[in-house]
Amino acid sequence: MKNIFKIAVLVSGGGTNLQSIIDSINSGYLNCSIEMVISDRKDIYALQRANNNNIKTYVLEKNIYKESISDEILKIVEGKVDLIVLAGWLSHLKGNLIDTFQNRIINIHPSLIPSFSGKGMYGIKVHEKAVEYGVKISGCTVHIVDSGMDTGPIILQRAVPVLTEDTAESLQKRVLVEEHVALPEAIKYFIENKIEIINRKVIINS
Ligand code: GRF
Repeated sequence: MKNIFKIAVLVSGGGTNLQSIIDSINSGYLNCSIEMVISDRKDIYALQRANNNNIKTYVLEKNIYKESISDEILKIVEGKVDLIVLAGWLSHLKGNLIDTFQNRIINIHPSLIPSFSGKGMYGIKVHEKAVEYGVKISGCTVHIVDSGMDTGPIILQRAVPVLTEDTAESLQKRVLVEEHVALPEAIKYFIENKIEIINRKVIINS
């Protein structure tokens, strides 16, 4: 019997992207198991969502672990999962974790990278910048995590219109709907082994 595809999910906030993965497993869309949820802060609703679904949780408080958080995560996940999914995760990962899980760590970012990405661009700030700039299209990006900030090869993107009357909050709400489609879709490509990466290009084989 082929082993089921195993994932770790890293969270830092409300966990709506974690919830979309849980829902996708429950609906049968994703044939994988969430082995653990790892958070870089305590008392966030994402941990409640994990507990509600009997998923093991680890809290690695960023102000305690600081620069060693990547090595701590590696100790937890090495040899235990096939893919690491950053779902609303806010700490920068680097070092052996990135090397050991090369091309097997993915992140969802709430803009069309390279726009509104990189250092300091996370959460509502991304949408504030998009509304302020006056872009007509925004969206979300699922990408491979490398040692940079939002710089890895792009797996898939989903676009949304930006309306004249949009606020950062109304745009965030529209993008979040697409995030909850994009992240499970990207995970499915890994489960089905359809991802091929050549230099910066990600090819999704049918
Ligand atoms: C989302 O906008 C996600 O794109 C970003 O963090 C925000 C919160 O995600 N990475 P979640 O609700 O905690 O999954």
